[in-house]
Amino acid sequence: MPGFIKELGYKAMLALKKGIVMEPKPRPAVFVGKDAALDLCESISHVGLKKILVVTDKPLMDIGIPQQAIARLSAKGVATAIYDGVKPDPTVSVVDAGIEVLKREACDGVLAIGGGSSIDAAKVMALAAANGLKALDCVGLKKGKLPSLPLFAVPTTAGTGSEVTIVAVISDDETHEKLMVADPKVIPSAAALDPNIMKGLPPQITAATGMDALTHAVESYINTWDTPECLQFGRSATRLVLNNLERACANGEDIAARESMALASYYAGLAFTTCLVGYVHAVSHQLGGHYGVPHGLANAMVLPHVLELMKDSAGERLAELAVYCELGDETEPRDELVRKFIDRIWALNEEIGIPRTTDVIKDEHIEDIVSAALKEGAGYPVPRFLERAECTALVQGLRTAA
Ligand SMILES: [Fe+2]
Repeated sequence: MPGFIKELGYKAMLALKKGIVMEPKPRPAVFVGKDAALDLCESISHVGLKKILVVTDKPLMDIGIPQQAIARLSAKGVATAIYDGVKPDPTVSVVDAGIEVLKREACDGVLAIGGGSSIDAAKVMALAAANGLKALDCVGLKKGKLPSLPLFAVPTTAGTGSEVTIVAVISDDETHEKLMVADPKVIPSAAALDPNIMKGLPPQITAATGMDALTHAVESYINTWDTPECLQFGRSATRLVLNNLERACANGEDIAARESMALASYYAGLAFTTCLVGYVHAVSHQLGGHYGVPHGLANAMVLPHVLELMKDSAGERLAELAVYCELGDETEPRDELVRKFIDRIWALNEEIGIPRTTDVIKDEHIEDIVSAALKEGAGYPVPRFLERAECTALVQGLRTAA
């Protein structure tokens, strides 16, 4: 099919999607700062819920993070049940097991404490339980008729922004295919951005998750479905990451840097839940699917490559980000500002230990990776659609030389 006809098809599909994605969405009440998670628990005790299902993972239980929230809920007269079976990239059966606990324990609310995996799993549990569904029934767009059970989130990483988005990603138990649940009903009622909880996060995870937040911010900022609010959230998140990620990686106990990163993740989530992401995610999802490369790490590696390809079509926006982040002055030529912004991303990756290349990508998968990335990218309001040759060169550029 000629390229321009294909492009018209992509644009028609996007126009349909835009109507749905741009609908007004609820926004969680947010508690920010040291011990915000405990303040959130206190507020839960005022809404009349009797028993909360705490959705988390075993490593967090081992270091005692959820127990602090559980103790506060208990002190305020709210009973809890625990489901700590969440694993990275939670599967349908992991989520269904949580739904069973929720029903057995007769919980009337859900509190997610964890990274994106725990929050995504909890979102699906709350939606499914309220609607008498199983996890798989929730996959797709707006599958729940009734509102979710009251849902609260305490992110323990700063990156996914899951505490504010309309999407939850789970995966098929056998094929590991990613399955998307998209519904404004899964947006939590309230979230706590608590830097105390993030203090123990190791530097590599801080780096990768922080770059996921930056990718959400930048991809949504350069996309074509902008709204003034999304632009504001996107540039604020970008500046917060550029000013704080190195500090948070170098000293995990830096509470101010941790709090800024948590806010960055939240703002970036608000931006991309409306303006979506782009080719960075389209490529990194394939690296995750084929080789299990962690999402944030893959995004970090791919981000500067995609920006190099978008430096003309998204030049104005990238120059704006450079000025907003004080990398240059608005009197400078646009192309110089764009260069400064992209070079700052390369340097940030270097500083926080993100490798430039990976040895996991196999020759025989490149065609599939490129096809899937081009297909996914065409579903986002990107500054321009990539040619196959460009995307192939990008993926080749991620490979460590033999
Ligand atoms: Fe992401």
